[in-house]
This record gives sequence, C-alpha cells and structure tokens, in this order.
Amino acid sequence: MSLFKRILRPALFHLDAERAHKLSLLALKRGLSLPVIQTNDQRLAISLFGLKFPNPVGLAAGFDKNAEVPDAILRLGFGFTEVGSLTPRPQSGNPKPRVFRLPEDSGVINRMGFNNDGHTAALARLEARKSRGGIVGVNIGANKDSDNFIADYELGLEKFWQVADYFTANISSPNTPGLRDLQARDSLTELLKRLADKRNELIDTTQISRPLLLKIAPDLDENQMDDIAHVVTSQPLDGLIISNTTLARDNLKNTKYRDEAGGLSGRPLFEKSTIILAQMRQRIGKDLPIIGVGGIDSAASAIQKLEAGANLIQLYSGMVFQGPDLAAKINAGIVTHMNQKNISHVSRLTGTSTDEWASKKPIST
Ligand SMILES: Cc1cc2nc3c(=O)[nH]c(=O)nc-3n(C[C@H](O)[C@H](O)[C@H](O)COP(=O)(O)O)c2cc1C
Repeated sequence: MSLFKRILRPALFHLDAERAHKLSLLALKRGLSLPVIQTNDQRLAISLFGLKFPNPVGLAAGFDKNAEVPDAILRLGFGFTEVGSLTPRPQSGNPKPRVFRLPEDSGVINRMGFNNDGHTAALARLEARKSRGGIVGVNIGANKDSDNFIADYELGLEKFWQVADYFTANISSPNTPGLRDLQARDSLTELLKRLADKRNELIDTTQISRPLLLKIAPDLDENQMDDIAHVVTSQPLDGLIISNTTLARDNLKNTKYRDEAGGLSGRPLFEKSTIILAQMRQRIGKDLPIIGVGGIDSAASAIQKLEAGANLIQLYSGMVFQGPDLAAKINAGIVTHMNQKNISHVSRLTGTSTDEWASKKPIST
C-alpha cells in the first residue's frame, strides 16, 4: 500500500473535508509533496485548439480555485490545470460544512457555491507565474448576486485574456441558483454570441486569440442535449467539458451524507457523465473537442473516458481518494495499455467505444 494510503489519507480523513483540502493546498504551496515519477512519452502529447498538451490528464476546476498552486500541480504530472471558478467579485460561498466525503463510494458531495477571491487576486497570481509556461486554463463563473450573469462571463474573458491559455465558461454548477438555466437553448445562444463578440473585440485589440470551452452538467434529458448540441455547433466555440457534478444520488452506499444538498462527484458520477459524453459526441460529431470529466480514478477509467469520445480528460475527486500521484499513475497506465495493444498514439483511443457508451442507460435516474 502506498505511503499516501497508509499514512496521509487516514490523517487527512480525520479532518473535515474542506480543512483537509486547505492543508493540501498549503503543502503544495510550500513544495511539500510526495515524489512523483513523470511519464514523458511523445505518444501522450496532444495538439488541440492551438495548444500542445504534454499529456491528456488535467486537473479539473475547483481544486485550485484561486490560482494558488498551478505550478505545483503541473509538477505532479498533470498535462494541464484549470483554475477557478472565478467570479468578478470575491464571494464567500455557502455556509460550512459544504463538502462531504463518501469513502464507501469514493465520492464527494459539495455545495461550495463559488467561494473564491475574485478576479483581481487571481489575476495577480497568474501574472506572477506566467513566464513559467505550462497550460493553465481559467474557469469563469458569475457572482451569485449578479444582476447580469452573461456580463460576468464577459468580464472574465476581458480580465484574464493575457494570462489564460484557454477559458472555460462554467454554466453547470448546481450551487449557484439559476446558473444552469444558461444551458437552455435561447440563453445559451445569447451567451455564446456575446462571448464571441467579446472575443473578437479582444482579438482585434491584442492580436492574440484564446480558445473558449463550455462546461455542461450531466443532468440533461434528450431534448436538452439536442438543444445544446445544436447551439454549440452553430456558434463559435472550441470545445465542451463534460461534465460537472450531478444532482442525482443513485446507488450510493453512504447513508450519512447522501441527502446533503449539492453536486455529487467521484466514482458514482463516472457512468452517468461518460454516457452523457458519448451521447453528446454522437450529436456533435468528431470535430469539436471534448474534455471528459467525472469519476476518473485509475488508468482504466481514464481510458474508458477517452474511448467514450473524450480528447482530453480531467479529474478532481479521484485525487482525494487515490493521492497526489494519480495523474502520473494514469499516464504510466495509458502508456502500458498502448504498448500492450500496439496503439501508436493516445488520440487513437478517442471515440473507439462511443456507440457502446451512448447506448447504455444510467443505472437509474
Ligand atoms: C469540492 C469541489 C469543488 C468544485 N468546484 C468547481 C468549480 O468551482 N467550478 C467547476 O467548473 N467545477 C467545480 N467542481 C467540479 C469538478 O471540476 C468536476 O467537474 C467534477 O467534480 C467531476 O469530476 P471528478 O469526479 O473527477 O471530481 C468542483 C468539484 C468539487 C468536488
């Protein structure tokens, strides 16, 4: 058993989940982390939307909300990291406790509510580390009390334009009332049009361009998926991130926290988010990149996500249960798999099982 599982995890699990997270951030900031063996295999490198990802495994938004540790994260073997969600003004989020571990299920429930230091504080941190390189995306959101959600996303693009390698418009957090309504056909059309206009304006004034991705929920019915697919293929957009946390509570062993309000992530989200990913892949075709997120906690689940139709992957909850070397282990595992199956490049895995995944029904909803 690893040092993490024998000693660190039990110690961290004695603490409330948010405290343990704070401590992990502090350790990363101080350069205290377990040694990680990185895999630098060219077969893992992927070029997408003008960026060269050294490997397909990214850290999902929410872990490093305030851009405090992007370089420490990249040193753990992640091919890219995503800071945020960031809102224009700082906000404290929901009352604590607001994060719950479900160890029996390897799951997490959170209702953080976009607690973050706001644009200005995060921008200063990102400007200070910009020369270090590595791919750092910025996930933008809206203040809870904003009277104009779309204007908050426009402000995000403007503020971080010089420092973000890519942007994610997060319209799928379940913890900001009304936010997910932006996924509806007319609202989404308006959002993407306004963000396209803002991007064009910024490209004109700076002569640089930045990719824009949209992060969606896994709790979508057929009609909602049709609408999103229609809008994202008819408006300028560089990719989708599928998915955020779910409101569903299917098949959980944990009884203590299962009824806590918030979004569920980790292993219990894997199947649902992977099915939705495959069903969206069928709808949008092969060209628009998808970052697959939800329940990845091993090389096997990472490979399944790619096979379902993802071009890149991200994870968060898996690291809580498996430890800080999870990205490095996944990359090593993907290389082993490619060697065994004689696969020449990781991109060859993408979409090989889309139809099988798309035809599955979530265990129950
Ligand atoms: C505590 C916590 C906070 C999160 N905060 C954000 C956030 O601010 N913005 C966002 O887009 N996603 C956020 N997420 C969702 C993750 O980015 C990811 O989409 C989701 O957890 C599924 O991946 P996982 O199963 O690997 O954790 C958060 C997740 C957790 C567990």
